[in-house]
Amino acid sequence: MEQEQILILDFGGQYKQLIARRIRECSVYCEILPHTTPIEALIERHPKGIVLTGGPDSVNEPDSPTYTANLFRLGVPILGICYGAQWMAKTLGGAVEKADVSEYGHANLWIDAADSALLRGVPAQTSCWMSHTDRITEIPDGFCITAHTEHCPVAAMEDAKRRLYGVQFHPEVVHTPDGATMLHHFVREICGCEGSWRMSAFAQTQIDALRNQIGGSRVLLGLSGGVDSAVAAALLSKAIGKQLVCVFVDHGLLRKDEGDEVEAVFGQGGGFELRFVRVQAQERFYQALRGVTDPERKRKIIGEQFVRVFEEEARKLGAIDYLAQGTIYPDVIESGVGGAVIKSHHNVGGLPKNVSFRGIIEPLRPLFKDEVRAVGLELGLPASMVYRQPFPGPGIGVRIVGEITPEKVRIVQEADAIFREELTRASIDVSKGQFFAALTNLQSVGVMGDARTYASAVVLRAVMTDDFMTARAARLPYELLDTTMNRIINEVRGVNRVFYDLTSKPPATIELE
Ligand code: XMP
Repeated sequence: MEQEQILILDFGGQYKQLIARRIRECSVYCEILPHTTPIEALIERHPKGIVLTGGPDSVNEPDSPTYTANLFRLGVPILGICYGAQWMAKTLGGAVEKADVSEYGHANLWIDAADSALLRGVPAQTSCWMSHTDRITEIPDGFCITAHTEHCPVAAMEDAKRRLYGVQFHPEVVHTPDGATMLHHFVREICGCEGSWRMSAFAQTQIDALRNQIGGSRVLLGLSGGVDSAVAAALLSKAIGKQLVCVFVDHGLLRKDEGDEVEAVFGQGGGFELRFVRVQAQERFYQALRGVTDPERKRKIIGEQFVRVFEEEARKLGAIDYLAQGTIYPDVIESGVGGAVIKSHHNVGGLPKNVSFRGIIEPLRPLFKDEVRAVGLELGLPASMVYRQPFPGPGIGVRIVGEITPEKVRIVQEADAIFREELTRASIDVSKGQFFAALTNLQSVGVMGDARTYASAVVLRAVMTDDFMTARAARLPYELLDTTMNRIINEVRGVNRVFYDLTSKPPATIELE
């Protein structure tokens, strides 16, 4: 049976990823396509509905993004958002003009048509999130106005007969409190989607598809210990068993016991059929990093060594047909829809150059992070692995200021393990941020057991963030910080001070290197 789907045509909108999220939350599969996608390609996919995104341009500019008007002859329900709505209005014979007042942010929204299939059940007065300069001044024939704001006479319009809808505001953002309801109405009622998108079904379909695609070939996957490569490994293992070779490079910069945890899941007796190779490359990395203090140089060395070790292992394995990667949908969107992706997290130094293979396999490419997690649980991965915090590719290497030594790695690993234990004990939700210990290059005087010490200072870093682009220090309970500090001082040799980093990003970064 064909997967029912909604297609999102991208006119350059900054919230396109959110639109896709909201639609998937209605249990409906959707994908974002660039507005340069030929209409034939759209038709081939038999979408149940189409959403036109917003965008930064003005439809009245000559070079602004556009699409063939034949789109409206497909008979498929269409929802235009912001620029998408303006383009719909203009293309169908209405008018769009520059408004006297730009509307940004919160606006009161009055519903003018309570019987609208899109707006049904929404309070007569609600609010919405606006971000526009142009506005629709004339609606096309067959349309009616279904909502307005103070500065925007056409905040929503529709031609129910042709199932064409336009909204000037952004229903996909949380600041439009009834936005999710409107999107639900659009995909489930107007487009008639049943809501059949389930992770269990995805896993089974994907396993069958992988089996067909790969046949008797061999696949190589680099395991990082992170969620994405682990779920990719689990899926491939179910599909092709021992034809899958997973190489796990232990670069000596992992969190405490992480290498063993990965081996427990994917190694002998772990319940997944595959060939697991753990490369103990710690010494080699430490050697290459000796005496290096510059953060960028350290990253470069870690990346280069990683690729070299990976290539050496690949060569030992003989002919490999496919290289698998744990690319997920946000990676695809961030690198430009439809473009090639090299996931740095899994290929710390880029793709291996000296391994030849026929193609790349990316079994998680259509999924968002929480969907990847759901698939992981579905396939029997332990929750501790599925819900683990994000961890940078270069690992603890970016959590040590100055030269990296095995001794410093030990300090960070132990302090970090204590911090994570205490966070768990205090039931702190770590899912919306990053929480870890790092090591400064400060050595200072202390006193322990009546003796003078000259030892290191550990930093506890705990930030809350939505997108990892900006972040704020978490307001952790003082008791938790106090207990963590005490335990680190008492249990981790070589530490006599513990700081809590209050700095936000910007001006700091999340990591400390
Ligand atoms: P910064 O420190 O730049 O980090 O504020 C932002 C987010 O990116 C992660 N990060 C990395 N992730 N490879 C990765 O896969 C890397 O080289 C890398 N460097 C930073 C960092 O942990 C944070 O979540």
